[in-house]
Amino acid sequence: MKRRGGGTLTAADFGKTVRLKAWVHRRRDLGGLMFLDLRDRSGFVQAVVHPEAVPEIVEALAPVRAEWILEVVGKVVERESPNPDLPTGALEVEVTEAQILSTSEPLPLDVTGRVDANEEHRLRYRYLELRRPELQKNFLLRHEVTRTILNHLHDQEFLELETPILTRSTPEGARDYLVPSRVHPGNFYALPQSPQIFKQLLMVSGFERYVQIARCFRDEDLRADRQPEFTQVDIELSFTDPDEVAELTEGLLEKVFALVGIEVPCPIPRMTYAEAMARYGSDRPDLRYGLEIVDLSQRLGSSGFRAFQSTVADGGVVRAFAIPGATGAAQASRKQLDIWADAARKRGAAGVLVLRRRDGELQFQVKGALTEDELEGAARDLGLEEGGIALIVAAAPAVAANALGALRQQAAEQYDLIPEEAHAFVWVRDFPLVEWDESARRWTSLHHPFTAPDPRDLEKLDAEPGSVRSLAYDIVYNGMELGGGSIRIHRTELQQRVFSLLGIDEKEAQARFGFLLEALKYGAPPHGGIALGLDRLIMVLAGSPSIRDVIAFPKTTSATCLMTQCPSPVDADQLTELGLAELSRE
Ligand code: AMO
Repeated sequence: MKRRGGGTLTAADFGKTVRLKAWVHRRRDLGGLMFLDLRDRSGFVQAVVHPEAVPEIVEALAPVRAEWILEVVGKVVERESPNPDLPTGALEVEVTEAQILSTSEPLPLDVTGRVDANEEHRLRYRYLELRRPELQKNFLLRHEVTRTILNHLHDQEFLELETPILTRSTPEGARDYLVPSRVHPGNFYALPQSPQIFKQLLMVSGFERYVQIARCFRDEDLRADRQPEFTQVDIELSFTDPDEVAELTEGLLEKVFALVGIEVPCPIPRMTYAEAMARYGSDRPDLRYGLEIVDLSQRLGSSGFRAFQSTVADGGVVRAFAIPGATGAAQASRKQLDIWADAARKRGAAGVLVLRRRDGELQFQVKGALTEDELEGAARDLGLEEGGIALIVAAAPAVAANALGALRQQAAEQYDLIPEEAHAFVWVRDFPLVEWDESARRWTSLHHPFTAPDPRDLEKLDAEPGSVRSLAYDIVYNGMELGGGSIRIHRTELQQRVFSLLGIDEKEAQARFGFLLEALKYGAPPHGGIALGLDRLIMVLAGSPSIRDVIAFPKTTSATCLMTQCPSPVDADQLTELGLAELSRE
């Protein structure tokens, strides 16, 4: 039977007798009356105990304090002085029976939300923090979103299948968490960075459509939108193409964003990786604001200014974006210019040069380096307004993109150019298959090694791998990567070629992925899919600034759990049993 919470009572319940089990959020004693704000998952309701009617209850409840749990029976009546701020503010429950179900010591953490505590303290008492109504709301939303997604996919014949947690490494670009084996000392399982290989194998098995709310584990540097263990809505389909995956994903996003009243503009616009990098300096462009990057290489590469000339001659670019005049950014101080230059230098550029339009004239940072015509032309290309400033970077294309992408975001935040209620969705497609890792001196996958090369570029795979596009796609919302996927390689021979391009020789490929290479030989269907970051999705829907607000028991930015105090040392005996005795701290 469904239990009704106090927060669901309405005027339709006037005169009814109800039984509530709830926490005492607050207790007030006024002129002999006892008022109890009762809280349960559904919300709040006020209970009142009249001393003349039920003196024995007043007595029994005398010791009650905040966070005790009561069971009360009472009549729903209209309140004399309604509270318009509360959904149940027009009514109260007149208590006729009551008993104490649980007592509470004074809490180490205020759950009314009125007293703030630092995050360390809050995470230490996370189970109490989760009582806060605003956090509870996030988890009710999380449940609703997951349910909506699964219902939608079940309706389209997706099967929910589970994949192992104790497994071999699946490369997704992060470090693995390892689990030592007791039975096979010196051997380890890896926790999955994603179910990638298994979902592909399920396609080989013939399940055709798979979905899993899958826990993934990645040992990587944490940020506001990353956790070491997180959840994906993991999807895979046979006989599909990028358009079908896009349509499917859009259908899902439409439904879940509707839960919070946001309309998704379907079809979601698409952009190539090359365009995203050139115009926004990022493969997850934030399209809520302009500050578009403009290529000035042609115009300024042949100017008399040596820095521009030599950069372009060496295959580099001169690119810039303009901050609008209304911001008054032309007045940026020396210190501000240094901050911008530092940000660019951190990303490998030599620095930033600025072009300002103020007091009706164009001022380039290096006086006399460019002619009036060149300055005017550049300002025109950039749409540089009176009071505005353009930030210019001359560097190798990837470096310039990176630096300008970061500056663009910094400027948008600094000058308050991000509209509050904007929702900018975009698909980024046509990623390069591989990129050159200079420090490792080898090609690495942009997504993962199972991503199919674009058939249009296949003949360049050996000679010019860097210019081969892949059939990968990312879905981006307000500058955040919500999900990513691709069409996969489904032929052994091609998978082997890609492995060898990535420097995984035949022996290593056999050792690490032999089962996959073998599986692809036995009637593997063409297939592809996507994984959405469920936590990120909820974070966005809940409007939370941190992923920790939507994970019940999150880790800190240094990957610890302050509540259970993990990771933690273990007994020497346990280490011995696992064949790890030499690591014992004894
Ligand atoms: P990818 O690595 O892009 O793809 O992950 C998919 C989505 O998962 C989310 N995500 C994370 N969320 C929180 N914390 C993290 N540390 C974290 N890392 C990733 C992001 C991301 O877009 N197997 C492929 C998918 C596929 O090809 O089908 C994969 O895992 O929102």
